[in-house]
Amino acid sequence: MVAFNALASLLVSVSAVLASPAPRTLPIPGNCNVTSAKPDLPSGQTNITVPSGQVPEKITLGVGVQNYTCTDAGTYTSAGAVATLFDISCIYDTSQYSTITKVAYDIWNAIPNNEISNVVETFVKKAFPVFADHYFITSPSGTGISPVFDARATSHKGDPNAFVLAARTGDLAAPTGNQDIDWLQLSNVQGDLAKTVLRIDTQRGQPPSSCTPGSELISVKYTAAYWFLN
Ligand SMILES: *[C@@H]1O[C@H](CO)[C@@H](O)[C@H](O)[C@H]1NC(C)=O
Ligand SMILES: *[C@@H]1O[C@H](CO)[C@@H](O)[C@H](O)[C@H]1NC(C)=O
Ligand SMILES: *[C@@H]1O[C@H](CO)[C@@H](O)[C@H](O)[C@H]1NC(C)=O
Repeated sequence: MVAFNALASLLVSVSAVLASPAPRTLPIPGNCNVTSAKPDLPSGQTNITVPSGQVPEKITLGVGVQNYTCTDAGTYTSAGAVATLFDISCIYDTSQYSTITKVAYDIWNAIPNNEISNVVETFVKKAFPVFADHYFITSPSGTGISPVFDARATSHKGDPNAFVLAARTGDLAAPTGNQDIDWLQLSNVQGDLAKTVLRIDTQRGQPPSSCTPGSELISVKYTAAYWFLN
């Protein structure tokens, strides 16, 4: 019954997304030019910016989980993330854009567990092609972990350099409140996919405020917009 309700709600939500007024016939092709698009960043701050000389090349929707492990001090610390990034460049200039991470979060949150993320993919993919996979690997220095955005198995098959391994160069508390993970500026360390990746318009993904030392890794659902700049 729980599963049925979640699926029914998913279908209703996806139908609503697909049926909402849009100037184009769906499915939307994933090749819209967004070089003139401007991310909606809070004014009066310099933590997150579009670096001079760079322009957006892709606007994507990330749907996934933030992982956390429990420290000996009883607080959660980041253990990376796993997400699928969908190309939403073609809705940047439509009324759907401003609510897309919220709508996607509500769909994702209605699924009873993380394993059926492929159900989300099956439906969201109808409108938005998969652009890249997002995950973490051991940093090139050998210490810590680094975010990777990898399009080699998705939108850029056959291109060995279609990834970006990045380092955090800017961090802004989410202007929407502390239930949402920070907005980030990530700069290229390796790969050709982007010079800069911005993580903005985040929805949820924060861990509980405390944990029992020794407890298992947790995965917290989130969505965000990831802008790829070149
Ligand atoms: C995208 O549009 C800009 C002008 O806004 C143009 O300079 C650029 O060549 C276009 N890129 C592609 C790939 O068509
Ligand atoms: C901006 O970045 C600085 C330096 O990392 C940090 O101390 C500050 O909290 C950030 N501001 C916000 C609003 O997150
Ligand atoms: C994060 O959690 C997901 C399951 O929710 C798992 O598939 C993935 O391997 C985890 N990643 C890391 C780096 O622990």
